[in-house]
Order: sequence, then structure tokens, then C-alpha cells
Amino acid sequence: EQIEKGGYDHFMLKEIHEQPKAIQDTYRGRLLREQAIIKMSGVEDNMKRFLNAKRFIIVACGTSWHAGLVAEYIFEDLARIPVEVEYASEFRYRNPVISEDDVVIAISQSGETADTLAAIKLAKSKGAFVFGVCNVVGSSIARETDAGAYTHAGPEIGVASTKAFTTQITVLTLMALRLARAKGTISSSDYRQHLLELEMIPSKVERALLSDPLIEEIAYKYKDSRNCLYLGRGYNFPVALEGALKLKEISYIHAEGYPAAEMKHGPIALIDENMPIIVIATKKGHYEKVVSNIQEIKSRKGRIIGIVTEGDVQVKELADHVIEVPESSESLSPLITTIPLQLLSYHIAVLLGKNVDQPRNLAKSVTVE
Ligand code: G6P
Repeated sequence: EQIEKGGYDHFMLKEIHEQPKAIQDTYRGRLLREQAIIKMSGVEDNMKRFLNAKRFIIVACGTSWHAGLVAEYIFEDLARIPVEVEYASEFRYRNPVISEDDVVIAISQSGETADTLAAIKLAKSKGAFVFGVCNVVGSSIARETDAGAYTHAGPEIGVASTKAFTTQITVLTLMALRLARAKGTISSSDYRQHLLELEMIPSKVERALLSDPLIEEIAYKYKDSRNCLYLGRGYNFPVALEGALKLKEISYIHAEGYPAAEMKHGPIALIDENMPIIVIATKKGHYEKVVSNIQEIKSRKGRIIGIVTEGDVQVKELADHVIEVPESSESLSPLITTIPLQLLSYHIAVLLGKNVDQPRNLAKSVTVE
């Protein structure tokens, strides 16, 4: 097992560090930047179904559901396709309205999650076209779907999902860009710019990983917190949810993710000097609005940990700590802002002596309802 961990203390840490390569493996052979082409056979072969779809319905559970939420922003923003994101378990029992005009996208690392599989079967029985985004090749979901795209992240052993999440977002971004091009909802120059930026993501993730020692220090300061709040807006709202989930899963600290602007409708009541609040406040995502959210937290004495763009000044003045990440376009920022949140939960869990790779009560794949 030590050999499999490749010199890392835990699989989770190894998998966090594998992300630059995993993301690259995901777009390798699919993103041909010089020709400005995205090649995904599962999309190409079914282009009519995608283009005729009145809406996309994404079904997933856990971290994969968070990737689905990021995808909602990407598909709507770039390809102008209405998207609904559903917990597979709710969708399947709700007598949902589905028709042949719908494209259902099922996202699953393992490809074995019982609720997601059942949701797929239901959607198929109503005539929808079902596309799978799975990591495990030949898994039940990969076989049950009409077409799909693998994430090629390599085996993910740690129960808390990390590289599966970022590679799912990568696949979904490629799909959105391909469909946007086909629909003409993106200009040729914006499209090319996105391809260029996507190719720069692995090295930016690499750079984000360099904050590891700083994140470990921050983890030490907050490891005994009872609660933790994660805030983000736009594309980074799902990242806040995912950051909170990671902390809950492996450190057993109660954490909630919230859209930053919703804070005033509830969570603000919880803020005092004992409450750490992780705020994603990168430059391209409603920055000024997030800064004013941070001011509200500060005036209530909350402890602020800002995830900011390199060279940030404003948040630095207000926050107790900042973790810098490289600048990127807003739509690709979740691939980068997620990294410090993964590392923060990892270090807190390690410092608390928790079983990082196999947290209590959780399973890597949930094959029962
Ligand atoms: C379990 C795992 C999570 C995962 C979720 C969905 O809860 O512990 O890490 O996100 O299942 O799994 P899937 O394999 O469908 O992505």
C-alpha cells in the first residue's frame, strides 16, 4: 500500500497532487488547440440529440452533484442551454416530467451509485437521451447510458473525492464548449481563448498546490473549530458547497456552504469570533460584491480565510488569512479554487488524527439506496 501511495501519507493527498496530470489526461486527445477543435465521439455521434434538446437534466450524488452544479453555470453561460441539476435520489422518486426532448447527463466517479443508476433507468424509460460522465471504465452507469465520456482521472481510492471532481468539470467544460461552438453561442475568439485557458489549468493547479505549507499552518489554527462556513458566488458557489462537504467528510467538523449573498438570510446569525468563514473571493467572480460580504463578516468578528487571486490587495486588508491562487477566467476558476479547500480539509483531518482515506460511516461507492 505504501508503494501505491507513491510516497504520500494518504491516497487523498496523492490524488490531490495528481490533479494537474489528471486534468491533462482528461482533455488529452480531445482538445486540439491548434486546429481549434474539441473531439468527443460521444457528443459528436449524438450531436442532433444535444442540439435539439430543450433542456439538460443533470443527475448525480455527493461530489459529482457539485460538479453538476458547476456544469449548470458552464452550459447556460456558454451554450445557452437551460439546465436543471438534480439529486438522483430526489429525481427518481418525484414522478419528474421528462420527455424525448430532454438530455439527461449522469455524473458518477464510480459509475455504481444506486440512486444515479435508477435515475438513468427512469429517464431512459421516458425516452430521454442519457449521457454518462464516469471515471470507472466499464462501470454499470457507463454501460447503462446511451453514450458518454470518461474522465480518465485514474483510480480514486480516497473516499473523499478530489481528482474525480476536477476532471468531471473538465469533461463538462469540453462538452459545453463543443456545443457552444455548434450552436454558435460563442464567438470564435472566445472559444479559442477558452481552449488556451483550459490548457493552462494544469500548471495553474500546480501553482495552487504550492500553498500547501501555508494551508497547513491555517489548518492548525482552525482545527478545533466546531463549525465552519464556506461562501462563494457564481461559479464558485458550488465550490463552496464542495469545500464544506470535504471538511465534513474527513474531519467531522460541521460545515455549510452557502452562496455569499444568501448569508444575510440566515448564516449571518451564526457569525462570531469563533466562526471561521472561508470565502472564495477571486478577481473575476463578482469580486466587489464578495468584498462587501467580507466586510459584513468582519464587522461581526468572524474569522476570515480568503481564497484570492495572486496579488490581491482588498481582501488581504480585511481577512485574517489569504490563500492566493493564479488568475483564470471565471468559468474555469472552480478547477483552481477547489485545490486549497481540498488541502485545508486534508490538513485539518490529519491534525485531528482522523482516518483521512476511510472516514467513518462513508463508503467510496454507495450501491444501496
Ligand atoms: C459517495 C462518495 C462520494 C461521492 C458520492 C457519489 O458518497 O463517498 O465521494 O461523491 O458517493 O459517488 P459517484 O461514484 O456516483 O460519483
